Amino acid sequence: MLTRKVPSKAERYFSTGVSMITSTSTKGPNIMAAEWVMQISYRPILIAVFIHKGSQTLKNIEKTKEFGVNVASKEQTTEINVAGGYSGSEIDKMGLKNIFKTLKPQRIKTPMIAGCTMNIECNLVRKENLGDHVMLVGKVVHIKHDDTKSPLIYHKGRYFRLGSMIEPDRQEVLTSKSTLEFFKNLAQGRFVIKCVGVLVESKNKVLVVKWPKTELETIPFSIPPTGKNQREHLKKYLNQMRLDIQIERESTMRRLVLKNGKEIQRINFVIFKGKNNSTKNNIWKSKQDRIIANLA
Ligand SMILES: Cc1cc2nc3c(=O)[nH]c(=O)nc-3n(C[C@H](O)[C@H](O)[C@H](O)COP(=O)(O)O)c2cc1C
Repeated sequence: MLTRKVPSKAERYFSTGVSMITSTSTKGPNIMAAEWVMQISYRPILIAVFIHKGSQTLKNIEKTKEFGVNVASKEQTTEINVAGGYSGSEIDKMGLKNIFKTLKPQRIKTPMIAGCTMNIECNLVRKENLGDHVMLVGKVVHIKHDDTKSPLIYHKGRYFRLGSMIEPDRQEVLTSKSTLEFFKNLAQGRFVIKCVGVLVESKNKVLVVKWPKTELETIPFSIPPTGKNQREHLKKYLNQMRLDIQIERESTMRRLVLKNGKEIQRINFVIFKGKNNSTKNNIWKSKQDRIIANLA
């Protein structure tokens, strides 16, 4: 029997979940642990699993053309150690007393495992030899999840649980209610507004535009449609605004979260440096204003 090689040090630095792959042979069901499992398409939902040559699981799936992906929860380290520590050719793992609790499958014949975060039933649609593993692609024929379970994480050969959520770091800007409302209107419910703007500085002042019907003054900025080149969009916008500004190559990114009480709006600004070609009719403002201070 070929066993899976113990990985070298660097390879152990990936972080993954761990799944239990269930399969069936004429002798009955089998289970193995697999960290190399991932969704590779939304429509149809396709899942790729990478299984080493010589495993009982591979033989089973090649024959039956189906398998179960049971994504382990943090309570299932014993199950994973048994599924990953022995081969079905050595012992009937599923037959061991008090280790695996099975669930009846809905669309395939292979049993599924209880207590997981997800149970996914797959039909084999593709097989590809890749190095010392075989990629098996399964088309999902049934999928369910359990919100009360939390996934098991695998890193450097050890098991972990998920930590607390990380809110990506953003510059917090306290604004007036009307300013926040203005940006919320622009966002139209989007989680983040993606803006492109230009920063023109002169004598420690910043070139600003005044937004109609508001108190707001900001650097000139616009919201490009998804997929549009931001620099080209900015050029057009400046033209429309009759702002004679030369856009330079240099650009930065500012990630802000505007706050007023409990209300927030996240904004990403791609900001190009600009040179003002004409000073007439322009408004210059010091960097005192909170929004401008964070964009400059
Ligand atoms: C945490 C963990 C993750 C594993 N991930 C994989 C994997 O992604 N692919 C693989 O071929 N083997 C993986 N293994 C090893 C198999 O689970 C192991 O070789 C098992 O004995 C195969 O069982 P079988 O011969 O009954 O199919 C993993 C083992 C552990 C403990």
